[in-house]
Amino acid sequence: MRAMKVTENIWWVGAIDWNLRDFHGFETPQGSTYNCYLVMGETGVALIDTTKAPFVPELLSRIESVVPLEKITHIVVNHVEPDHNGGLPEVMAAMPQARVVASPAGVKGVADYHNGLVVEPVKADDVIDLGGRTLRFLPMSMVHWPDSMFTYCPEERVLMPNDAFGQHVSSNARFASDFGLDEAMRELGIYYANILLPLGTAVGKAIDKVLETGWEIDVVAPSHGLIWRGEEFGRVVEAYQRWGAGEKRDKAVVVYSTMWGSTAALATRIADAMAAEGIEVSVYDLAVSPVAHITYELLEAKALVLGSPTLHHGMLYRVAGYLQYLAGLKPTGRIAGVFSSYGWSKGAEKQMTARLEEIGFEMPIESYTVKFRPEDEDFAEVTEWAGKLAEAVKAL
Ligand code: FEO
Repeated sequence: MRAMKVTENIWWVGAIDWNLRDFHGFETPQGSTYNCYLVMGETGVALIDTTKAPFVPELLSRIESVVPLEKITHIVVNHVEPDHNGGLPEVMAAMPQARVVASPAGVKGVADYHNGLVVEPVKADDVIDLGGRTLRFLPMSMVHWPDSMFTYCPEERVLMPNDAFGQHVSSNARFASDFGLDEAMRELGIYYANILLPLGTAVGKAIDKVLETGWEIDVVAPSHGLIWRGEEFGRVVEAYQRWGAGEKRDKAVVVYSTMWGSTAALATRIADAMAAEGIEVSVYDLAVSPVAHITYELLEAKALVLGSPTLHHGMLYRVAGYLQYLAGLKPTGRIAGVFSSYGWSKGAEKQMTARLEEIGFEMPIESYTVKFRPEDEDFAEVTEWAGKLAEAVKAL
C-alpha cells in the first residue's frame, strides 16, 4: 500500500479505518486513521507508533513500500492505548532487530497490556541518533494517558504528538490544507470535546511545555487524522488554549428526549425564546443526534438546557445515558436549566436537576414542568422561563 512523504525524510505509513463508527462510545461518522511515521536517517530508521492490531498488515505493507522491514532500527511507542499499541507485538515480530522505546510509564503499560512484553524507557533528555536525523522526547502525562509522550525530529522540524492535535477523520488527504482547513478545525474541536475536555489542565501544561522547549516546528503530525503545516499550527494551538481556558460565549444547547412530543414542543419554544433574547441556540433530540456532536456544540456554550418527560417516575434512559457520558468529561463553568412534561406523576425534573448539580452545573432557575400537552398558557410560561435563563447566560 502507498506511503506518503510528510517531509524530505519522514513518511506517513499508517492505516485508514474507513468504517470506524464508535470509539469507546464517541461516535465517529468520519472514521479515523492510526497515523505512524518513518523517520529516515543515514544509519537508522525509526517507526513512530504502531496501529490497532487488525491494521498491522496495512502498516507493514506501507512501510515496505518505503524501506525493507529489516532496516527498521527503532520503534517508538508514544502511547499505550490499543489504537496505537494493540498491534505492537505483531510489529515487533516483523522487525525483531528494532529497539523499542517508550516513556517510563509506557514501559509499564506495554508490559501490563501485553503480558510482560519488555521495551526500553526513554526520558526527556534522551536523544536517539539515526544518522543525520535525531529523535527527542517529551513525556506528556495525561495527554491522553499517564504514558503519553511526544516525539520530535529537529532536523525535519516535525512534532509527532500522538493523540494531541488529532481528529477522527478518515480520508486519502493526509494534510489539513488538502482536506479543508475549516472542516479540519471543526473535527479538531469534536475530538477535543470528546477526548481531552476532562484533561484541560494537562493539555494547557503540554502546550506550555512544547512552547518552552523552543523547538522549531513546521509540521505537527498527530496519530489520528490530518497533519498540520506551517501557520496552521498557530491556529490549532490558539484553539487548544481557548478550550483549555474554558472560554465560552452566549450560547445554549437544548438537548432533550421525548415520548409523545410535549417535551419536543417545549424544546423548540425554549430555543425560540432564548434566540429572541440574543442567545445563540442549537437543539438536539437525543434519539437522532450523535452525543459526540452535541458535546462539541457544548464546548463553547455557557448553558445546557435539558428536557425529558417522566417515565416510570424518572427521566428517559437516553437522557440518563447522555448525563453519564457528560459526567465523565467533567464540564465546568456552565449553567443548566431543566424542563419536562408528565402525565400523572412527576420525577424526571428532580432526577435531571440532581444529576446536573452533581456533575457541576449551576442551576440559576427552578425547572419548568408541564402536564400532558403544552397549551397556549404553558407556552407563554415557558417563554418567560427561557427568558430568565437567557438573562442568566448573559450574566455568566
Ligand atoms: Fe488514540 Fe488515547 O488513543
